[in-house]
Amino acid sequence: MNMDEIKAVYLADLEVVEDAKQLADFWTKYLGKGGEVQKLMNGIKNVPKEEKKAYGQAVNEIKNWAQALYDEKKTELDKQAILARYEEEKVDVTLPVKTVAAGNLHPLTSMKNEMINVFAGMGFEIFEGPEIEDDDHNFTRLNVLKDHPSRDMQDTFWLTEDLLLRTHTSPGQIRVMDMEKPPIKVLVPGKVFRSDSDATHSPMFSQLEGLVVDKHITLCDLQGMLDQFVKAIFSDEAKTRLRPSYFPFTEPSVEVDVSCFKCGGKGCSLCKGTGWIEVLGGGIVNNKVLENCGIDSSKYSGLAFGIGIERIAMLKYGINHMGKLFENDIEFLKQFKA
Ligand code: PHE
Repeated sequence: MNMDEIKAVYLADLEVVEDAKQLADFWTKYLGKGGEVQKLMNGIKNVPKEEKKAYGQAVNEIKNWAQALYDEKKTELDKQAILARYEEEKVDVTLPVKTVAAGNLHPLTSMKNEMINVFAGMGFEIFEGPEIEDDDHNFTRLNVLKDHPSRDMQDTFWLTEDLLLRTHTSPGQIRVMDMEKPPIKVLVPGKVFRSDSDATHSPMFSQLEGLVVDKHITLCDLQGMLDQFVKAIFSDEAKTRLRPSYFPFTEPSVEVDVSCFKCGGKGCSLCKGTGWIEVLGGGIVNNKVLENCGIDSSKYSGLAFGIGIERIAMLKYGINHMGKLFENDIEFLKQFKA
C-alpha cells in the first residue's frame, strides 16, 4: 500500500467539495461505515503477520489524517455559510426611514367614545335611531303637542309637513320603548339639527341620550349616574347640582350643572364667577311618554337625560368656538393626537 497515493486520491476528492452535502458524501465515502478506511482496515487479514502492526498503524494514520481534513473543511464551509447569510440578511441601518403620516380620531369621536365608555360601565346598551324623523317620534309622543308653545323651544328644519331632521336624540326613547319592555337601560348617540348658529351653536351637532326605565327609578338614580359621569370626564372632585327646568317629556325636569373643574367652585372666567357650569338636561320620564309607548306608569318609572357632545368637548378642551369642531383644520385636529 502506497500511503501517498491513497492520500492523493482523498485530497483530489476533497478538492472538489463545495457544499455541506458534498462534504457529507465525502465523509460517508471515506470515513463512514463500509467506507474506504474501513475497507483498508478489513484488508489487514491478507497482510502477512509480521507486517500487520505496521499496516494497522498506517491505516490509523490515514483515518486520523482524513478526519482532520474533513474537520478543517467543515469549519471552513460553516464559516462561509454564515458569512453568506449575513450578506443576504444585511440591513443598512443608516438608510433614512420612510415616515408614514398617522392620523388620529376626531376629538368629537373620541369624546363620544369616552362618554359612552363611562355609561357602558354602568350597563347601558347602545341604540341608534334615524336622523330623519317624523313629527310623531320627535314631538307628539314625547308630549310636545301640536300648537303647544314648547314646540318653539327648538328651531326645526322641516322636510315635509310631517318629516323633519331630528332636533334631539329623544325620539330614540320612543323607538326603544316601542321595541322593548322594562327594564331598559339605553344610550342613543347621534347627530341632531336645529336652525341655530353662533359661537356655541351649530345647525348640526351631536347628543348622547340616556334612558333608564325600571321599577322605582328616581331623580337620585339620575344624579348618582351623572355624578359618576362628571367625575370620569372632568375630575375626581367634580360634583353635580340639579336645578328645576322644563321639558315636556320629563316631569320633574332638571338642568344639571357640574362644579367648575377649572377653579374647583371658587368662581372664574370659565364658570362666569358662579362656580357651576351647565352641562345637560334631564329628568324623570313623563308618565304620558311611558303610556304613549304602552308602559304602565303605575308600575314603572324612568329617567332620561340628553348631553351635548360638542359642549362637553368644548368645556373639557377649552375650545371657544363650536365651528372649530367642524372645520377639519388639520393643525387644530392634530392637537388631539393621543
Ligand atoms: N332633548 C332635550 C334637548 O335636546 C334634552 C333632554 C333629554 C331633556 C332627555 C330631558 C330628558 O334639549
